[in-house]
Amino acid sequence: MAMKDAQPGTIHLRDYEAPRFLIDKTVLRIEIRDDDACVQATLSLRRNPDSQYDGESLELYGQHLTLNSIAIDGCELLAEEYSMTAEDLTINRVPDQFELTSEVVIHPKDNSSLEGLFKSRTMYCTQCEAEGFRRITYYLDRPDVMSEFTTTIIADKALCPVLLSNGNLLDSGDLEGGRHWATWHDPFRKPSYLFAMVAGDLAVVDDSFKTCSNREVDIRLYVEPKDLQKCDHAIQSLKNAMAWDEKVYGREYDLDLYMIVAVDDFNMGAMENKGLNIFNTSCVLAHPETTTDDAFKRVEGVVAHEYFHNWSGNRVTCRDWFQLSLKEGFTVFRDSEFSADMGSQTVKRVEDVNLLRTVQFSEDSGPTAHPVQPSSYMEISNFYTVTIYEKGAEVVRMIHTLLGPELFRQGSDLYFARHDGHAVTIEDFVAAMAEVSGRDFSQFMNWYRQSGTPRLSVSSEYDAEKQRYSLHFNQGVGDGCSPYHIPVKLGLVSDRGDLPFSSSGETNQIIEITQPTQTVSFEGIAERPVPSLLRGFSAPIKLDYAYSLDELGFLMSNDSDGFNRWNAGQQLSIQLMQGLMVDYRKGKALALDPRLKDAFTKVLIEPASDQAMQALVLTLPSEILLAELSEVIDVEAIHHVRQFMCRELGSALADDWLRIYQANQPQGGYRHNAEEVARRSLKNLALRYLMNAGADNSLEFVESQFSQADNMTDRLSALTSLVNDPREAAKDLAEAALASFYQDWSHEPLVLNQWFQVQSACKLPNGLDRVVRLMEHQAFDIHNPNKVRSVVGVFCNSNPINFHCDNGSGYQFLAENVLQLDKFNPQIAARLLIPLTKWRRFEGARSEAMHKQLSHVLASPGLSRDTYEIASKSL
Ligand code: TRP
Ligand code: ZN
Repeated sequence: MAMKDAQPGTIHLRDYEAPRFLIDKTVLRIEIRDDDACVQATLSLRRNPDSQYDGESLELYGQHLTLNSIAIDGCELLAEEYSMTAEDLTINRVPDQFELTSEVVIHPKDNSSLEGLFKSRTMYCTQCEAEGFRRITYYLDRPDVMSEFTTTIIADKALCPVLLSNGNLLDSGDLEGGRHWATWHDPFRKPSYLFAMVAGDLAVVDDSFKTCSNREVDIRLYVEPKDLQKCDHAIQSLKNAMAWDEKVYGREYDLDLYMIVAVDDFNMGAMENKGLNIFNTSCVLAHPETTTDDAFKRVEGVVAHEYFHNWSGNRVTCRDWFQLSLKEGFTVFRDSEFSADMGSQTVKRVEDVNLLRTVQFSEDSGPTAHPVQPSSYMEISNFYTVTIYEKGAEVVRMIHTLLGPELFRQGSDLYFARHDGHAVTIEDFVAAMAEVSGRDFSQFMNWYRQSGTPRLSVSSEYDAEKQRYSLHFNQGVGDGCSPYHIPVKLGLVSDRGDLPFSSSGETNQIIEITQPTQTVSFEGIAERPVPSLLRGFSAPIKLDYAYSLDELGFLMSNDSDGFNRWNAGQQLSIQLMQGLMVDYRKGKALALDPRLKDAFTKVLIEPASDQAMQALVLTLPSEILLAELSEVIDVEAIHHVRQFMCRELGSALADDWLRIYQANQPQGGYRHNAEEVARRSLKNLALRYLMNAGADNSLEFVESQFSQADNMTDRLSALTSLVNDPREAAKDLAEAALASFYQDWSHEPLVLNQWFQVQSACKLPNGLDRVVRLMEHQAFDIHNPNKVRSVVGVFCNSNPINFHCDNGSGYQFLAENVLQLDKFNPQIAARLLIPLTKWRRFEGARSEAMHKQLSHVLASPGLSRDTYEIASKSL
């Protein structure tokens, strides 16, 4: 028997069984007291007619609950009539239909895991996905048990004047002793993971939205009073998302009230609880003085994401957690199309593909790789991954590409209509798409069921006499892996632009690769073209085609597909940097290839039509991406070669950078719109190159931008450049800037996160010392996930040259922090451990040192299930 499978607590998709009982109604009474909370639950249970089960016992989930009493139809159970473990409660014998009442005591103030009911600063709030509801009461805490919830909250009126839960407010009133209550009712049946409640002293921003059927929806954004000025952007984003979902998917909001609450201590970005979203402050608050342009985009995207879940997740939900990507992949696809429509299609696509190629491809080739529809897990919290979210979205995007927008819309209409109010599977989603299109998706399902990034090798052949151009495709199908159904969008580019395909007259074509090897020929091609393959990144794969550097340069300026123009530039840089890495290891002097300089020059002198794209094209692939592409990761070679390129491009093109920097100075006050965001991104990139090159006046520019900026994007960009500048003259300036920045913003936690991040990501030597000191800083708080991510997370994930420092002290630092965090917040601990799991990718000494720390973590007593799963699967 394989040990891994023998682990107790591995849950398998193949073992799925319909729920034995259903809960039609759930009535909760949650009383928040000084030191604890008392939860009374009244559940209307009945046998599930669709279950095969004919036994008499009932098993409920429950964790960290102190049971006061439990009764069936008003009859208190005797001790011998039920039994409990740390994770469940079993009643020996229950009728076919009955009312179960229970009373438990829980401890929100001591709940540092941020699952269930917990306290964040001054407010009480909940996080129930995936399995947090069982920390609130004994329940059938699984997504295929859907119930109608009525919730009464009772608390001190002065401490918690605001009492919220899902749905509509039914009634509220005052009680003796300065206490009060409110009762909420949610008319939509939902799984327990979508339950939420909030109690606290919150300020509110009110707004409203008129739906397509002319219903007025109240919008309320609840924040701490100090944050009232930071709500406009989230509210505008929400209204845009509501209108977009009506227009693009025909989806209208269903309740009369939509509430969002901002909390500071939160394990993830946000949560789509029905009618009562709960957000990490970092994903909802925004103001130009405190928030960067990137963070503005993130707020827009996350607000939309949670809103879109109301249909893709809440109205139609998941049967079990193996179907997580049913809601997450689809919803990420929806939010990314929304963001693209609000800004630039190509920019959004480049951002998404960068994330996929760096983080998801790396996950998919490592020990925590899993299919988009996993077949087993130990701890479901570990499966909220870039594979479930981002690769899941790519798979939905491929369906969209194969069907085209009209059929895809018909498919989604059918899916929503057919499954409204139900808990369903990924197969149900694909079946709706298959039905409207008459297409066969059986091979396509491999995208959901196999892990790993497919590789597609392509070669070309031109027969001048027959005027025939052929492309040979080869999917390297590995052991036990079946070939994928891959949509490859392509075009053929000549000096005079895209060649039309004789079959259609179009310049784009979608080829469907289904075989291990496949050849496609195009007739009537008068000259040998350069193929533009995988336009718009039409499939989440690694594509190999032996482009020459000249061909890449050619595509960079001539491809009609914006994404592929950017991609050609990236491939060109990657090829050159990989060559330089070989030179670096041989101790050879490095030299900048003139072709890169020429390619950059061409882009730099383009008319300023799309400055955001210009900035992306002029940004070199990250160290993280170069590492992902390496057989064996050579941290120093990657770092030095990339720094070298930045320096050389900075000085070789110094005049252009200076021109760009000066031409794009802000004029007439800050504005947040796509054009200004683009202009800032290009200007700040130019400043970075000037700094990299050590240009004489660059320190003056950066200093004055830092002190005079009227927005956080420019200020932080200047600070980042200063902090990373190796020049002696920059040292004192950087220290002073960091100190004054801290002075100015010590009252703003989200700005302090940025201040921490800039320093944790600093690539200059002695990074670990800096990070250890940051953790001793009074503003650091290890119980706040945003702070942990900003310091430890950024250091270990985004500062390779320091994290992988020679003596292995970075690894020890990470292991110690994981073990400390694991005692009070296992979700964050397990996530933080990921960088160490990649030990196989590094050379001898590093690999060993990482392995040693990972073993140390696994050998530590009392590990959480979360951390145990990650550590054990990667050793
Ligand atoms: N479902 C949420 C989303 O993607 C994310 C989520 C899952 C979450 N589990 C969580 C958020 C735990 C906070 C804590 O929108
Ligand atoms: Zn989501």
